[in-house]
Amino acid sequence: MDERLKTNLNLWNAMVPVHVDSKGYRVDKFRSGENHLFPIEREEVGDVRGKSLLHLQCHFGMDTMSWARLGANVTGLDFSEKAIEAACALSAELKIPARFLCSNIYDAPNVLSEKFDVVFTSYGALCWLPDLKKWGAVAAHFVKPGGIFYIAEFHPMTQVMANGGGVAHAGEAKKLELEYSYFSTAMREFPPGPDYSDHSVTLEHGSHEWMYTTAGVVSALLDAGLQIEMLHEHPVCCFQMFPFMVRIEGTRYWRIEGDPIPLTLSIKARKPL
Ligand SMILES: C[S@@+](CC[C@H](N)C(=O)[O-])C[C@H]1O[C@@H](n2cnc3c(N)ncnc32)[C@H](O)[C@@H]1O
Repeated sequence: MDERLKTNLNLWNAMVPVHVDSKGYRVDKFRSGENHLFPIEREEVGDVRGKSLLHLQCHFGMDTMSWARLGANVTGLDFSEKAIEAACALSAELKIPARFLCSNIYDAPNVLSEKFDVVFTSYGALCWLPDLKKWGAVAAHFVKPGGIFYIAEFHPMTQVMANGGGVAHAGEAKKLELEYSYFSTAMREFPPGPDYSDHSVTLEHGSHEWMYTTAGVVSALLDAGLQIEMLHEHPVCCFQMFPFMVRIEGTRYWRIEGDPIPLTLSIKARKPL
């Protein structure tokens, strides 16, 4: 495996136990029946009853198992063995039928031969991937003819701002400040820092991350032969990415007063029959 991905793998393996125990991931609520998916992906993917669904970069599987709770036959894939162990343990404990596979996403076609009605990925997946074109090819590879690929992801506009990534990294920032070029594809190397879900834990490993643009994501999917059916931009975020965000009452969403930039990007694409 690429050395940069190995560093990321060490980081993700270290984060898994922290996330399983963190308040941010709401595992207790999931144990008592809460569906961990957000309304955007739930509504835009639609009815999954009886459908086969592959979740790429599934972490420890709460979203994967949430689709299972909605009636899908699910498979989750992630390169972190700690994530896959935790996902399997949770699935056994809660008796939610699900299959979990450990693989680098770029090697996934070598470990999984099936095709799926729905291929799904979400929030915080793309920044870990050095090759977006190859990612699009892998995603499309797993979609059955007539099936869909769906992504809900942090909007690229959020990635060009300073002070993003959660309150632990953001200090006392009061407003959005541009820091990076929207068009830069240069790798960003981050030093070890606090965990994004439990800020009291300092992690030993840094990370290697990559930017993506909306056009880059769309092109990766089109180049892989998928047809874009829907592209939405939303003024809401599934966590407090910037310290000046406000909670939308009665929801798990956050927004910025005045909605100055899009915070979430979602795309549905279909493989032609
Ligand atoms: C922020 S999490 C995604 C969380 C997801 N939205 C969920 O359901 O909880 C990103 C995931 O990508 C995985 N990942 C990062 N690089 C990967 C790679 N090259 N291949 C497969 N999984 C990878 C990490 O292990 C981690 O679980």
